Amino acid sequence: MPDIQICEVGPRDGLQNAKQLMPTAAKKAWIAALAASGLREIEVGSFVPPRLIPAMADTAEIVAFARSIPGLKVVALAPNLKGFQRAVEAGAHKITFPVSASRAHSESNVRMTPEQMVEEVRRCALSAHPGVEIEGAVATAFGCTMQGEVPEGDVVRIAVALAQICDAVALADTVGYGNPAQVKRVFSLVKKEIGEKLEGAHFHNTRGLGIANALAAYEVGVRNFDSSMGGLGGCPFAPGASGNVITEDLVFMFESMGVSTGIDFDKLLEARALLVKGIPEEPLYGHTPVAGLPKGFRAAA
Ligand code: COA
Ligand code: ZN
Repeated sequence: MPDIQICEVGPRDGLQNAKQLMPTAAKKAWIAALAASGLREIEVGSFVPPRLIPAMADTAEIVAFARSIPGLKVVALAPNLKGFQRAVEAGAHKITFPVSASRAHSESNVRMTPEQMVEEVRRCALSAHPGVEIEGAVATAFGCTMQGEVPEGDVVRIAVALAQICDAVALADTVGYGNPAQVKRVFSLVKKEIGEKLEGAHFHNTRGLGIANALAAYEVGVRNFDSSMGGLGGCPFAPGASGNVITEDLVFMFESMGVSTGIDFDKLLEARALLVKGIPEEPLYGHTPVAGLPKGFRAAA
């Protein structure tokens, strides 16, 4: 087992915000290459109304394809019971719900208040989902472009409610407002309340702090990270949100620290080439892919 788990969210968080639509065949080739690089968890899409996010219209087909890749945990996002039922039927191994701590973002994103969304997650958890893992992700946990400050007490309250319903809870910096000191404080506060149920960290790189925030979370015990190849990403219903922490740079940081990710950097670059091929007009980010690995670089054992 690697020391940390990285969940690649590019096919969902990245493509939902890209200007170009990636054809279904190109998505499949990209996901296969991501898995071949050693990524063991990929969020392959979301089950939302296709008129709302056309890039996610083929998610059922993509889930079915991803399930055929041995050893891959196939993750999908759902915003409500209908999306959950579609995700279960398609065969997702893990389903994640965005539950905003900010009322303004929650109403914009899912047309429900945070409290209504917690109840929606509860309805899903009570409906049939044999063998499927449920994750509640507290969105806008570090601030919101619409509401501004999000009180830490609200984050803790939502996380505690989700911990009673879900298999795992994650904290998400949807709009890239968080800083490393805040990340350590909020993760520690939530951990005190829900212990091991607190699993994942989802950071956006909007102000360049994504990787610093990931390191801060690692230092307070987080071992599950979301990231996106080429730094794609952003929520279409949160103004000002931009890309996720960059998978390539995150892998380089951890591997060079001696923290194993299970991911082969050269194969990651092969997957990046397929991403470029699939949506050639979309700008991609990442320092390590441009600079290359340092001379004599040795990955973590
Ligand atoms: N998948 C497909 N269709 C869905 C659906 C889903 N998950 N949820 C609702 N619908 C359909 C309904 O059946 C209904 O169809 P009809 O008009 O043919 O009867 C229509 O969409 C409206 O349903 P309603 O329940 O009123 O939804 P809404 O318009 O209030 O939208 C959400 C609520 C949650 C579905 C929507 O806000 C959403 O998908 N948000 C997620 C946005 C997102 O992905 N953000 C980025 C990730 S954090
Ligand atoms: Zn995100």
